[in-house]
Amino acid sequence: MSEPELLFNPFEPGFTDDPFPAYRRLREAEPVHESPIGIWILTAHRDVVDLLRSDHSVDERQVTEGAFVAQMREFESALDGRGRSMLDLDPPDHTRLRGLVSKVFTPRRVAALEPEITALVDEALDRIEDAGSADLVEALAFPLPFTVISTMLGMPPTDHARVRELSGWVVRSLEPLPDEETVRRVGAAGVELYELVGGLIADKRARPGDDLLSALIAAEAEGDRLTDAELVDQVVLLYVAGHETTVNLIGGGAVALLENPDQLALLRANPDLAGNAVEELLRFVSPVQQSRRVTVAPYKVGDREIPANRFVVAGLAAANRDPEFFGPDAEELRLDRPNARRHVAFGGGPHHCLGAALARLEGRVALERLVSRFPDLALDGEVKWNGRINLRGPATVPIHV
Ligand code: HEM
Repeated sequence: MSEPELLFNPFEPGFTDDPFPAYRRLREAEPVHESPIGIWILTAHRDVVDLLRSDHSVDERQVTEGAFVAQMREFESALDGRGRSMLDLDPPDHTRLRGLVSKVFTPRRVAALEPEITALVDEALDRIEDAGSADLVEALAFPLPFTVISTMLGMPPTDHARVRELSGWVVRSLEPLPDEETVRRVGAAGVELYELVGGLIADKRARPGDDLLSALIAAEAEGDRLTDAELVDQVVLLYVAGHETTVNLIGGGAVALLENPDQLALLRANPDLAGNAVEELLRFVSPVQQSRRVTVAPYKVGDREIPANRFVVAGLAAANRDPEFFGPDAEELRLDRPNARRHVAFGGGPHHCLGAALARLEGRVALERLVSRFPDLALDGEVKWNGRINLRGPATVPIHV
């Protein structure tokens, strides 16, 4: 007997190269979908927003059976109690940890980075200009957010290559993993990264600097209760979330512009559009394609009822292209779209991205300067995607200038 065809299968070959048609089909056929492995997926904008604003949990330990539980348990046991960042915790822990980080990760601190970000972008563009061609991911999209967050946290440059490698493994814990060996490697990378960051925190305690990490330590010393392990967990989150996402905005955003020359021309003719353009690119690209909640009680969505203790995926990428919300041209890139900012690329509700202002700043400066500096910018070969279901973006973007 042949297997029945799945309505939605993110493991299908080619899905990660272009997941949007599959999300569209799912939203049209069954916007509240229960997959055969017991995970629910929401793809309509209104349902995704409602879920993110709801009181349902982010603590996946509550799910005891079904798909991915074995993978999660193995990862957790490798980390041995580490790795509980605010992203995986509900109130009151979430409120306390987010409160401490927001105290130092302020809009003012982020805005003050603009000159430094501009200088980093210009140096990268100088190198691209000298070479005449480049892989935009390796030359700009990855190093910009990575250097910015590494500098903010005061990570010494000698450790950058190792952190980059470890973080590349750790971030895969957000994806379903193909086999046990990969789960083991992800766990081992996690252990090493947590140890490395623990060492850095010890150094900063002894010799505080003018960086975000020293400010976090000082805030903690002022009386916000935080264990050492909790501090490590939040710093690793900031580190990983600080670059493994924005790389997809800059790389994917550049691809979207190059594949839509009319929009690229519109931006060049109207530099004032850059702010809205970044919102529209966030909507169009969805650098983080999904987020997850666990139902704490039966949850009614439309005419369906999701039982308690189930994984529910908020389909951010699908919601961002919902024509009921964004109109019949939702699948098109329109840099002057009036409601572009209503995207859910940064999530919503209590876990709304804490780094949104930094991501917006890096994305705007990088893309604005890239297009204004190189009038002949063009793709110079095939774009390759990174094969990830969640933190999806291009792995290589060959360009010539
Ligand atoms: C949370 C997306 C950049 C730090 C989130 C969430 C999303 C997201 C969707 C919510 C996840 C959920 O609800 O389960 C993005 C995108 C980025 C980006 C698309 C870039 C384009 C950054 C940066 C930082 C950062 C640059 C920090 C330097 C965080 C933190 C959280 C978070 C700390 C957890 C907030 C909480 O749990 O309360 N991000 N992010 N993000 N993000 Fe970002």
